[in-house]
Amino acid sequence: MGALFHDIGKMEKPEYYVENQHVDHNKHDELSPSMSALVIAAHVKNGIELGRKWRLPQAVIDFIPEHHGTMVMEYFYHKALNSETNTSVKVDDFRYPGPKPRSRETAILMLADAAEAATRSLAKPTPSRIREITKQIIDKRMLSGEMDESGLTLSDLSRIRESFIPLLTGIHHSRIVYPGQKTRESENVPEKRGERKARK
Ligand SMILES: [Fe+2]
Ligand SMILES: [Fe+2]
Repeated sequence: MGALFHDIGKMEKPEYYVENQHVDHNKHDELSPSMSALVIAAHVKNGIELGRKWRLPQAVIDFIPEHHGTMVMEYFYHKALNSETNTSVKVDDFRYPGPKPRSRETAILMLADAAEAATRSLAKPTPSRIREITKQIIDKRMLSGEMDESGLTLSDLSRIRESFIPLLTGIHHSRIVYPGQKTRESENVPEKRGERKARK
């Protein structure tokens, strides 16, 4: 339930999130990095409000702020540091509001959500790259203290990592275009297209 509802806050401004963006147009090009961070962080606040309005159980609402904890939006933070007006850039302005995950479940969702996004952005998702980036994602959240209130132990974290890796490899690895296979289009064999149409 928590996983299903964790991003309901994105419904208000869906065009600002990577998964809904088109390659040729990025809404954030029109905004300053700190405005972008505010817009993105708003999906947490809006999500909590929607959750309350729909009377979701508190245990489900908890996934909404806790899946980002107090992580920094690195992309926009670095964009701000690299901009000309970088004198007053404060890292805390680029943080999600928190709290940090306070249960094992919300912590696992934080890790799963981040690992999925990171592996999705890999240009060549080979099994070794998927392993490496999944490890980085988990280590970073552990070292920056995001796991501290979750009740997860170090051995839990390594079990979580080892269960994510084969799953993520299964999802992303098949996307690689092998030599001799011209484009991804060639995977669209007629029966498959037919199936998709039939399901609509
Ligand atoms: Fe989110
Ligand atoms: Fe998410």
